[in-house]
Amino acid sequence: MNRMYPFLLALLITVAGLFAGIHGSSQQSSNDLIGDADIGKVLFEEYTCDGCHGSTAENGLGTRLNPPRMRQARFIQYLRNPTNPELMPPYQQPEASDQKLADIYAFLQSLPSASPPVEEIPVLQAILEEVPK
Ligand code: HEC
Repeated sequence: MNRMYPFLLALLITVAGLFAGIHGSSQQSSNDLIGDADIGKVLFEEYTCDGCHGSTAENGLGTRLNPPRMRQARFIQYLRNPTNPELMPPYQQPEASDQKLADIYAFLQSLPSASPPVEEIPVLQAILEEVPK
């Protein structure tokens, strides 16, 4: 069993990182624009985000966006200048204004997250029990 520890530890770190990513860092900052989730919902379809990310932003070709793992400012910045523009199209001003992107962000935040808490994932619990304290 001892030989498994490095592997399990690496796996645990990966999985924990994933969850930290999913659950973390979408808190409000004081400079954030106030988004309107209802307008954001309409824009999410108008800008065809739903075509790639799914209508609940959880599936499709694109990355899962629900709940958003970026802060609002970073989200807006990313949409203007995506890492891989051939996969994820850029959305530019003036049409896609900061306010409209903030509305989409608010819509993503308003969606119920389907991610279960760590305690409710048996595989994760089993891994946690294997790791030496
Ligand atoms: C043509 C398909 C397509 C459309 C349309 C699209 N996306 Fe994407 N999006 C992607 C893909 C694919 C990625 C992953 C890109 C990568 O791996 O670099 C992505 C990545 C993202 C990310 C980064 C996610 C992360 O956690 O790294 C965000 C945020 C995002 N999209 C939001 C949106 C929003 C909001 C819209 C609509 C305004 C939209 N996308 C429209 C395909 C699309």
